[in-house]
Amino acid sequence: MTDGSPVAEPRRPARVFFALWPAAPVAKRLHALGGEAHAVCDGRRMRRETLHITLAFIGDVAQERLPALFAVGDRVGAEAFTLVLDRLASWRHNRIVWAGAHETPRPLAALVGRLNAELAAAGFPVEQRSFAAHVTLLRNARATLPERAVEPIEWRVDGFALMQSQRREDGAHYTPIRQWAVRDGTDVA
Ligand code: 2AM
Repeated sequence: MTDGSPVAEPRRPARVFFALWPAAPVAKRLHALGGEAHAVCDGRRMRRETLHITLAFIGDVAQERLPALFAVGDRVGAEAFTLVLDRLASWRHNRIVWAGAHETPRPLAALVGRLNAELAAAGFPVEQRSFAAHVTLLRNARATLPERAVEPIEWRVDGFALMQSQRREDGAHYTPIRQWAVRDGTDVA
């Protein structure tokens, strides 16, 4: 600094994604399910407070672009719904064990569709793979689990969030940057 003017703090890009975050009772049940899976598959069990469903993963964005993501969330306008998590399974390619639903509620598919459309319109990269609603319970699992039915966990979804992910030694930490409530309409499965 030679002329006495302040030097702007270099602001790091934020690693962000849109997600559904369960309330404590649902997170507790999912975490317990993770414990059962861990007994069979080993691997790294996700901490209770990190359990979530990713709606749209965006990755690193410049801080200056965050308002554009807030605008995406504002435009989405989703409906409340109940998601019934009733399946436990694993994926071999990334060695995760996950909880999921045998049926994706229509409002959830609609929410993901609208998010992706708004993200694309705003110039953000959009996942090309089809959406598979899942809560990652274990990473680096040593064994695969054939998909099986589990005691259904009912999750009332009344909002979604833009989350920031930060990697630390004990794993990823997630912080909400902004949250949106969704309209309470009729439940459509
Ligand atoms: P996963 O649980 O299936 O790994 C934060 O990293 C969240 O974004 C995780 O839920 C992760 O899903 C999801 N995600 C989706 N695509 C990703 C990508 N390309 N890189 C990292 N995380 C991704």
